[in-house]
Formats: sequence, C-alpha cells, structure tokens
Amino acid sequence: MGKKRILFVDDEKLVLDGLRRALRSMRKIVEMDFATGGHEALEAMSRQPFDVVVCDMRMPGMDGAQLLLKVKERYPSTIRIILTGQADDSATKRAIHVAHQFLMKPCEHEKLKTILKRACLLHELMTHPFLKSTVSGIDHLPSLPDIYIKIQQILDDPGSSVEDLAAVVEKDIAMSSKLLQLVNSAFFGYFNDVKSPAKAVHLLGIETVKSLVLALKVFSGFENEETDPDFLTYLWNHSFETAIFSRAIMNSVSEDKTDVENAFVSGLLHDIGKLVLASSLHEDYKKAMEIAQKDQVELRRAEFRVFRASHAEVGGYLLGIWGIPGDVVEAVTFHHRSHQYPGKHFTIAATVACADMISHTLQPETCIGSMPVLDPKIFVNQEMTGEIDKWQQMCREIKEQGNG
Ligand SMILES: [Fe+2]
Ligand SMILES: [Fe+2]
Repeated sequence: MGKKRILFVDDEKLVLDGLRRALRSMRKIVEMDFATGGHEALEAMSRQPFDVVVCDMRMPGMDGAQLLLKVKERYPSTIRIILTGQADDSATKRAIHVAHQFLMKPCEHEKLKTILKRACLLHELMTHPFLKSTVSGIDHLPSLPDIYIKIQQILDDPGSSVEDLAAVVEKDIAMSSKLLQLVNSAFFGYFNDVKSPAKAVHLLGIETVKSLVLALKVFSGFENEETDPDFLTYLWNHSFETAIFSRAIMNSVSEDKTDVENAFVSGLLHDIGKLVLASSLHEDYKKAMEIAQKDQVELRRAEFRVFRASHAEVGGYLLGIWGIPGDVVEAVTFHHRSHQYPGKHFTIAATVACADMISHTLQPETCIGSMPVLDPKIFVNQEMTGEIDKWQQMCREIKEQGNG
C-alpha cells in the first residue's frame, strides 16, 4: 500500500496540533495535512486528492456535516470520518448520512490510529483498479431502498414514535409479512406471537427491525428474471443464518449493543456482493461457480480469477456508496480476510467469518467450492482459538431450535 493522504479539519488549532503530535508515529504510512475550516479543506482537496478526511462537527461557517456532504459529492471515494462531542444533537444526526465513521471526542489516540489504518486499508481496496473495472461492468448498481431512508428519517426525528416507524413498515405489505414471518420463526423464540411490526419493534428493538427491513428489501430488489430464484433463496437462508450466528457469537464476546447489532446486519449483508455479481454478470458468475466446484477452491478465489475482485469487496463497495455505517462496510469487505484487518479486539469481520464458516460446516452442501478457511490470526489471543468449538455447538443448538 502506498502512502495514504489524510486531511484533518478542525477550527481549533490546538486540536490539530494535538493530532499532529499524537499521530507522528504514523508518518511512515500516511501523509497528513491540516485545515482550520470547511472552505480551507475544500481548497486543499481541489489542489490534491485525499484518501481520508477526518473533520470536527462544530465549526463556524461550514459545519462538519455540510463539509462531508460536499466531499461525498465531489470525491465519493474519499473515506469520511467525523469527530464529534455530542452524539445526539441535530447537526450530528445530519452527518449520519454523509460520514462513514463517527468518533466521539475525546478519542483515545490508539483507537484513532486503528480507525485510520482501517480507513486507509478500506480505501485501498475500494479504489483498486480491478474492483473499479468490475463495478463499472455492472449496468446499474442497486440503490439504497427508500424505506430504509424513511426509517432513518423517523429515527432522526425526536418527535417520532415507534408507531410512526411501524406505520412505514406496514405500508409495504409484502415486506412486512415477510418480516413477521421471520420474527415469528423459531430463531427468535417468540413462537408466532408477533402479530404486528410495532410488536416486532417492541420485542426486537428498532435497530434489529431496521436491519431486517434493509436486508429483506435489498434481497427482494433482486427478484427479477436475471437472478436465479433458487440462488436467491439459498443465499437468503445462508445470510439469515450467518446473521443469527454472528449476533450470538458477538453477544458472547462483547457487551457492546452496537457491536452486536452491527454483527447481525453484517451477517445479513455479508454476501450481498454475490447477488450483485450473479444478477448483473451472470454468465461470468456461473463460470466462477464452475471453477470453484471443479477445482475445489473457495468461491471467492474463483471469483478473483474471473473478476479480479471478490463478492466481499463488491458488497463492501456497494454498502460504502450507500453510506451504511463504516463498521458494517468494513466487516462485509473483510469477512474473508479478517486476519489482515487491524485491531486489538475480536472484530465484527472476524465474527462474521466464524459465523459464515459454521453455517457452511453445519450444512456442507450449502458451500459452493471448498469450505472457507479461518486464519488462526483472527483470534486476538490464544485462548480464543478454543472458543470456536463452543460457538459451533452454540450455533448448532440455535439451528436445531430454528428448524424445530
Ligand atoms: Fe462470503
Ligand atoms: Fe457467506
């Protein structure tokens, strides 16, 4: 990876000086530049490209959300990170739609370094010429479902209620009946007791329902003559199972509710790149599946031979341009190479990798080509390696209950 360029934007010079000092050790891998306001930042970006922009939320003149919106329009491949003091003020809520990552101030320097390294790595993958040429061969990339945007708007509005959200979900009759079917499946353990989207929100929480709605809408967007319906059903079942397993695994290693939720939605969407490739470039995708089966290699490796990119990068790319939270984009992009993904903790990408592998192990016929291999490096310490057997047992029980 060549040296990446990061632009920091903050109206307080002292903050910029602090960042400059704290991140000095990164100078070998990144070039840093500093701007004291939105206009200065845009000027710097017009002179030379930046791979990552980290900006303060509250700045006079142009605030962080306004700046990142302009960056998104003019330089869509730049990774956008916002540093904010208040998580729930209205300006920050506006920024949700334009930032890949949110960091709360004060941010520990080590954490900031890890986030920046990840952002650089993601940028490297997303802008890789092979990925770009594959993506440009896709006639039209699906767009972020409207209903997801509406749900997000309701969540952003402090005056809205669960009923408002449920009303939006109920309007889409086909989707809401699928949602209720899922929520009533034995996987969640509510035993056919959930009769309305409002109750689903009440029992599962807004975030889980939002994730399910997103995944259901994304998958139904592929119900057309180009996509093999059997492949669609197979991929949905595998994705849903991977989501349930990811949630359970993350629950056993982290108490952070956001991590658990992000693991769930990452599991739901982890293989979305397969759908994008299979529906737009179906002849080539068939070829990749044949290679995987004939040569008994992992499907993602066969995809690489055909497209020079795999479903993981294509999926991550799509979610990235949709503005889905950075943790999810990263987990999807790195779910087959989570050992290369920096971090001191067991990551969401590693969680999804384990869940994916367990899903295929419990039902080997669902695996096209050879089984995905887990790199032991994903386990941050030795004791964790032993966890995989426990998780496998746990997931087996969940599956039996789900099928029961
Ligand atoms: Fe995958
Ligand atoms: Fe998978």
